[in-house]
Amino acid sequence: MQEKLEEIRRALSAGIGQVQDRKALFELKMKYLGKTGEISALSKGMRDVSPEDRPAMGKLVSEVRSWAEELFAQTEETLKKRELEARYKSERVDVTMPARFAETGTLHPVNIVRKEIIECFDGMGFEIYEGPEIEKDYYNFQALNIPADHPARDMQDTFFVTEEFLLRSQTSCGQIRVMESKKPPIKILSPGRVYRSDSDATHSPMFHQMEGLVVDKGITLCDLKGILDEFARRMFTKETKTRLRPSYFPFTEPSVEVDLSCHNCGGKGCRICKGTGWIEILGAGVVNRRVLENCGIDPDVYTGFAFGMGLERIAMIKYGINDMRYLFENDVRLLKQFKD
Ligand code: DAH
Repeated sequence: MQEKLEEIRRALSAGIGQVQDRKALFELKMKYLGKTGEISALSKGMRDVSPEDRPAMGKLVSEVRSWAEELFAQTEETLKKRELEARYKSERVDVTMPARFAETGTLHPVNIVRKEIIECFDGMGFEIYEGPEIEKDYYNFQALNIPADHPARDMQDTFFVTEEFLLRSQTSCGQIRVMESKKPPIKILSPGRVYRSDSDATHSPMFHQMEGLVVDKGITLCDLKGILDEFARRMFTKETKTRLRPSYFPFTEPSVEVDLSCHNCGGKGCRICKGTGWIEILGAGVVNRRVLENCGIDPDVYTGFAFGMGLERIAMIKYGINDMRYLFENDVRLLKQFKD
């Protein structure tokens, strides 16, 4: 039996040196200390030892058992430490490495301009109204004092859906819809997409407009000028001035074309203003009394002004873009340059 104990010590000492992980260690432990393990078998074998040798033998067996238990415990500790170190090593984070940046998008220049114009008029008490893009001939033309067969229809090459419905060619329809549903005082701003059968460097079949309408008692062209002056200063530079030139729109009387002093050269003349010192930005006027009548508003009591501008045009002026098609190609190299 003593020999057997010595053999167990030798074999276990050699075996434990081969163990690489805790699973193998557990298996080895079972081999010796498990219920049917070799050391346990020795304890059971005590029965066959003569009574006088039994105490001494029993002591030896329990010494081997304690020694083995201690050996397994220590090895387990060492393996645990080794495994943890390996994990630390493999999961180590290099805090000096540059961080990965998530790419952020930017607003499209037309949306930036839209947002800025809304902010500007919002500050002057305008409400936002958005109308439908498929519109009735009535709202797009007739109620705006452009009857069927009127030559003014040629000013806007329109996409008709049916005889009655069309893709709106201007946001001016919103004026009618608002005035039909709301009595003065009215002060609205109406952004939206519009459509015309046009396509070149300064025209696109779909583009964006921003319409403004103010109706109340005693509104005059001077109010229009005052509001637009403020808009020009906020949207471009403090020094920017406006100039009204006579024009024609069926829904306004008188009608004007509004120019801004060139924000680039301050009016001296440059490439952007084509040497004139002025840039045309919008159409406007005093609301034609027939339009008010069409909406059930008494033109002898109320007057108003309206204006309409193209957002692509404003973006092109503001950012010095010379071809409108750049705004629709969606080339991120171009779009990335505009930060809100
Ligand atoms: N709707 C016109 C256009 O698309 C622009 C315009 C001119 C709007 C005069 C107005 C206005 O409200 O009063 O060309």
